[in-house]
Amino acid sequence: MRRPLIAGNWKMNTDRASAVALAKAVAEKSGPAKHVDLLVCPPAVYLASVAEALSGTPVALGAQNVYFEDNGAFTGETSTSMLTDLGVEFVILGHSERRHVLGETDADVAKKTLKALDAGLAPIVCVGELLEEREAGRTAEVIASQFEGSLAGVSEDQMASVVIAYEPVWAIGTGKVASPEQAEEVHADLRRLLSERYSPALAEKVRILYGGSVKPGNAAELIGQPNIDGALVGGASLKADDFLGIATAAP
Ligand code: G3H
Repeated sequence: MRRPLIAGNWKMNTDRASAVALAKAVAEKSGPAKHVDLLVCPPAVYLASVAEALSGTPVALGAQNVYFEDNGAFTGETSTSMLTDLGVEFVILGHSERRHVLGETDADVAKKTLKALDAGLAPIVCVGELLEEREAGRTAEVIASQFEGSLAGVSEDQMASVVIAYEPVWAIGTGKVASPEQAEEVHADLRRLLSERYSPALAEKVRILYGGSVKPGNAAELIGQPNIDGALVGGASLKADDFLGIATAAP
């Protein structure tokens, strides 16, 4: 049985005071969401402050990105050891904004995934099609190619620590949510890919999150689908009540 994971991706939002206040509010009000795992992913510069605010609470801490080298002359980048040093447990990799705005490739994502796994971080590897790819009937092909490319070299043992997030790019921050049937179709495909590439047993273990305009009002139906194991929430994760509304709605 996969325990749902509700992850908040704060993206490039908040300031230090509001990040700390949001983290504290999520932790303080998390009581009714004991049946799910809660995770918040603040901007990198606030990870330390948020780590302190979450200390001793059941809410886990994640980063929004990491680099694939140990250290050295990589101006502006953050290493896995810098994240683990702060108590970070998860890292979002290959988010569509990094792929499509910042030019990140599947090969970059695969290198980061392997580096994160080596450091004991749980990668949340994002995949998702553009609107034109969906309209051209290419969704399954795009997802399969991102799955193969972004998880290249990941062993079955390592894969047990990976979370996959399906985020149709056309549903991110647009208010247009994928229907539960559209999302479930892709999630079921991803589970089949896991089963074929690794094993049916591994496929049953891996959590596959849906992301894209998840709100308290649509969370129950989405996360109620057989292959949807939680949500990667953007906009609605910036308000503790909305974020926890999604978490408590999860079956
Ligand atoms: O990582 C989160 C996703 O990009 C979803 O963002 O909930 O604002 O649509 P959104």
